[in-house]
Amino acid sequence: MVEHMRARTLAADRAIVEAIEDGSRQLVVLGAGLCARAWRMPVLAETIVYEVDHPSTQRYKRSRLAELEPKAREVRFASVDFEAEDLSLTLANAGHDASAGTTWIWEGVTPYLTPLAIARTLEGASARSAAGSTLIMTYAMPVARSRGRFAEWLLHEGLRAIGEPLEGLMGARAAHRLVEASGFEITKDARVDVLGGKRRAHALVAERLLVAVRR
Ligand SMILES: C[S@@+](CC[C@H](N)C(=O)[O-])C[C@H]1O[C@@H](n2cnc3c(N)ncnc32)[C@H](O)[C@@H]1O
Repeated sequence: MVEHMRARTLAADRAIVEAIEDGSRQLVVLGAGLCARAWRMPVLAETIVYEVDHPSTQRYKRSRLAELEPKAREVRFASVDFEAEDLSLTLANAGHDASAGTTWIWEGVTPYLTPLAIARTLEGASARSAAGSTLIMTYAMPVARSRGRFAEWLLHEGLRAIGEPLEGLMGARAAHRLVEASGFEITKDARVDVLGGKRRAHALVAERLLVAVRR
């Protein structure tokens, strides 16, 4: 899993650098968790980063940030529960400019959400995306349970036991349908280990990263 995460983060970093070098000056990190991009990526020097996360995760992160100096021009925090709240309204209140281009990064989050929350969040992001905005999103495919691998079973049941069941697993066709229905056009989609330069890293979950542009 560690190799997998490394490949995923590298793949997402590359896509972000491309979008920022293309002129995007707003980066919204959806389900930011302990993502450190705003504090470690010099390419964000002219960019406002919006850290969007569940209130409890965000509270913990903010308690750990202390005096860390961001590399981004500015970091703004907005808390939201994707299952119950309106992303668009939350971002508007945090000062996000829907008339300017935005880069959205949604890494490692969709597997934990219901399909309805995924669709609503995509709609919210789309509603605040000027034409040309970029969505970078990872999604995880259902595992072939028939393979009967104990580790896979353990991952699923372990996450369920700690209250984080994998409810948002989806195949490529379903993911594309959701993203395209919200008004984005997919330009890239590949396994994260391949994109991250790690050929076939062992992963318990087959995870892909897609890049899409707002029409
Ligand atoms: C596995 S972590 C990924 C964190 C980060 N994006 C990364 O790649 O390292 C999942 C993130 O999704 C967030 N999340 C899960 N369910 C959520 C919900 N209903 N609303 C908002 N955020 C949620 C969690 O708070 C957590 O930050």
